[in-house]
Amino acid sequence: MKTKNNKISITDIQKKCIEFQPKGSLLVNGIPGSGKTTILIERARYLQQKKMEKNILLLAYNRSMTSYLQQLATKSGINDLEVDTFHSWGMNILRSINYPRTYVLPTEDKFGTVRFARNIVRKQNSKSFSLPKFETDRNEISFLSQEIDWMKGLNINTVEKYYETSRSGRGSDIRVTKKNKKWIFEVFSKFNALLYSNRQIDFPDVAIILYEKAKEIPKELLPDHVLIDEAQDLSAMQLIVLAEFAQKSLTIGADKAQQIYKNRFSWKNLGIDIRGTRTKVLGQTFRSTKEIVQLANRFQQQDEILVKDDEYIEPTLPNRSGPKPTVILSKTYGEEIEKVIKKVKSIRANDKNATIGIICVKNDKIDAFVEALNEQGIPNVIVNELGADLMSPGVKLTTYFSAKGLEFDHVFVTNLRKNAMPKLKVFPGEEEKEVLSTERKKFYVAMTRAKLSLTITGVNPLSEFIDSLDKRLYKLE
Ligand SMILES: Nc1ncnc2c1ncn2[C@@H]1O[C@H](COP(=O)(O)OP(=O)(O)OP(=O)(O)O)[C@@H](O)[C@H]1O
Ligand SMILES: [Mg+2]
Repeated sequence: MKTKNNKISITDIQKKCIEFQPKGSLLVNGIPGSGKTTILIERARYLQQKKMEKNILLLAYNRSMTSYLQQLATKSGINDLEVDTFHSWGMNILRSINYPRTYVLPTEDKFGTVRFARNIVRKQNSKSFSLPKFETDRNEISFLSQEIDWMKGLNINTVEKYYETSRSGRGSDIRVTKKNKKWIFEVFSKFNALLYSNRQIDFPDVAIILYEKAKEIPKELLPDHVLIDEAQDLSAMQLIVLAEFAQKSLTIGADKAQQIYKNRFSWKNLGIDIRGTRTKVLGQTFRSTKEIVQLANRFQQQDEILVKDDEYIEPTLPNRSGPKPTVILSKTYGEEIEKVIKKVKSIRANDKNATIGIICVKNDKIDAFVEALNEQGIPNVIVNELGADLMSPGVKLTTYFSAKGLEFDHVFVTNLRKNAMPKLKVFPGEEEKEVLSTERKKFYVAMTRAKLSLTITGVNPLSEFIDSLDKRLYKLE
């Protein structure tokens, strides 16, 4: 049985997710386009309209996703839905309870503060202080900063807990001994003390403070129903807080295969804290054609880390068919822009109502496209800009990061040039194969934004990802 909503037919399994009853929580684990976001929006509608629930919080990973979800909700006739990011929602609660430290350490000051903390600890313990070996001081600071974020994401707040916790995912090239851990923990504590004396907090502290202050937060500030989109990119600590704070139900949409930020956790480990979480697995896409899914899957399956993960879902192929994806090669970025614009024009000539996404590695690459589009009088919107209309027809430009969660009829995945995509920038304490796996996921996310047609554009010297695409599954133009 299928239920009609405005335009799509919700499947039985989707309906079960939309209407699941508290107590407890539900993890909707699904491939790109399987309807996770749709389920969250429809569940908000269901709770508001059928259950007369008012206090619903929908969380997205970043600003472009919150505005996309807001626009989707409005378009589906859902009003007064609070859509936010974890950070902004959490900071609002801290302000409401008059928490005294709500000044967030600016990213550009982080290294300076970590270095200062390290210097103090090293000076006070000059004989015994020891850290793993790094080639440069900057690498050491970069390692310490990332280790601190990782510790906070898991709420490692005692040295014993630090000793016990496996550093899996934090790279094996840097050997961290128990003695090193003792001193890293000292630097961690000093860093926190410095922040404290400046009345500052660090980005990952928001979840920790909320967790610690849980009892002091008045019930009326807490949401009854929490809906989380793209939960794979939240930290374990953020998820634990949301599970704790949701008064009636928690619904989590996630896809490990689209985990493009550094937070790594397993649902199994988290399950210890999010008790009673049931899981529904959605392996069917409603977004892309068979041809697009085939190419994206074949590419994804080369990611050994992902495929070996017991939480990996193998997508089933959709029935809907369309043109084979296209690969276009150019000698320069300039030539790439020309070729993309030529194709954009022909798409627009055939279908005025089409949405066209152009996905680039960085903002300056977006700017170059925008300049050329403007010269040709082709209207365009940058997804990340405040107030950008993400639903209406036309050309939308986005980075690989901000493309997550969005969809377009026609997609151009651009800048496939060596050292641009994939960019193997390996920070100390990270492993190259992990970084490559994340870059693969970014490319996979980008490809799976396409509903009808997918064009991938390479620039000389070509990205190794072009070689990894199965030649039988695309046509070269
Ligand atoms: N049952 C359905 N029948 C037809 N279309 C559907 C159905 N469910 C969802 N869709 C459509 O499929 C597309 C993808 O859905 P949605 O964005 O919810 O997927 P998602 O799982 O959130 O994907 P992603 O992981 O990329 O964020 C949307 O255009 C949505 O309207
Ligand atoms: Mg989604």
